[in-house]
Amino acid sequence: MEQLLIEGGIPLKGQVEVSGAKNAALPILAAAALTQDVCVVDNVPDILDIRIMMKGIESLGAKITYDNGRVTIDGSGIKKPVVDSEYMQKIRGSYYLLGALLGRFKQAQTIMPGGCNLGTRPIDQHLKSFEALGARTKIEHGFIIANEEQAPIIGTSIYLDIASVGATINTMMVAALAEGKTVIENPAKEPHVVDLANFLNSMGADIKGAGTDMIRIKGVSRLHGCEYSIIPDQIEAGTFMVAAAITGGDVVVKNLIPKHMEAISAKLMEMNVKLEETEDSIRVYVDEPLKPCNLKTLYYPGLPTDMQPQMTALLTLIGGTSIVTETVYIDRFQYVEELLKMGADITVEGNTAIIKGVPRLLGADVKAKDLRAGAALVLAGLAAQGTTGVFHLDYIDRGYEKIEEKLQKLGADIKRVSFDNVKSQLRVV
Ligand code: EPU
Repeated sequence: MEQLLIEGGIPLKGQVEVSGAKNAALPILAAAALTQDVCVVDNVPDILDIRIMMKGIESLGAKITYDNGRVTIDGSGIKKPVVDSEYMQKIRGSYYLLGALLGRFKQAQTIMPGGCNLGTRPIDQHLKSFEALGARTKIEHGFIIANEEQAPIIGTSIYLDIASVGATINTMMVAALAEGKTVIENPAKEPHVVDLANFLNSMGADIKGAGTDMIRIKGVSRLHGCEYSIIPDQIEAGTFMVAAAITGGDVVVKNLIPKHMEAISAKLMEMNVKLEETEDSIRVYVDEPLKPCNLKTLYYPGLPTDMQPQMTALLTLIGGTSIVTETVYIDRFQYVEELLKMGADITVEGNTAIIKGVPRLLGADVKAKDLRAGAALVLAGLAAQGTTGVFHLDYIDRGYEKIEEKLQKLGADIKRVSFDNVKSQLRVV
């Protein structure tokens, strides 16, 4: 087992490159299984979730290679629409293979998805869409089985009760190869939804309106191979922006799309953090005391729930009271008890956290309980006095490529140590 050891209190300085987006890469790699041609995908981050997804696709019979961010997928060997890889229950994105296989083979079976524990995460909207398209679905022995009877998949009008990222993506994949037209109303508009639509269109699909309130899809009879490059990771970029702010540093976050960052940038500016934008970078620095603020997570273009823990970590060190409201997940404040160990003053009431800024956090041993919670603890550790040890790195490694290397280049004192060596490395704080 490994741990990140952080000696806090160093203002970060320099430039950092954002990797490709995890939540775009996962469905895009799965969507490559919609064709028997070869797809080449660039800017794929080297993270645990992606490695698991690649193993899952391989277990279907595809040939897949990874070389320095470039993934080549040859789906000609995929003959049966069944995902039985145990790996797949570890990640949320595994359900994208359900959409891909149902699209290509008109039937599919996959293990129920896992992912971060953020409370109950139902998939009723995915199943509702599949049913509307003509596929009967059932859940048996931990597997989702779709369209065993291989009924025709026929385009239709679908209204999503929740603007779910996963359900929107899965519906697009199935509808791309359905007979006739599909309309998705109230779809998710996240940048990774648009990226997947662009990828499908590069494969020959006919999808319009991704990123708006209505997606229109004309089914085509086949999809072909293509070359594609994944968008930068909005959440990794946001995490580095907060890293600059929480350490009172001066960092240029490069290779991002400023438009995708608008909600995060707006909140940071409200706190008095200074930002300077170019076409593909944002310089983040602090030159005056920061101000508390209230924030609420929302679907895109609102403030992403995946930035909520990092923003909360920052607010713990800003004098005054801030209120953070979580509207997407019912249980996304589990990390708060770890911040309390570091001296934060946070009270959670239902889906709201009331944060009273403290003058300092003190290093402590803390546990990542999910991916973004882990990122928040790393940020808190970078700002804290003394040594912070962050455990359960498997969560952080799911979504952040070379996190400690990138932070080291910005001047952070952070290192990965194996669990056996931890006791000797820890200092009393
Ligand atoms: N929901 C339902 N029914 C459904 C689908 C979703 O009730 O059929 C609910 C969920 O329980 C949740 C909300 O709707 O409360 C949003 O779920 P959504 O389907 O939009 O999320 P997801 O597809 O499960 C993706 C990302 C998450 C990110 C959310 C929201 C992937 C693999 N995961 O999850 O990423 O938080 O969208 O933007 O793309 C992360 O990267 O740390 C992460 C958790």
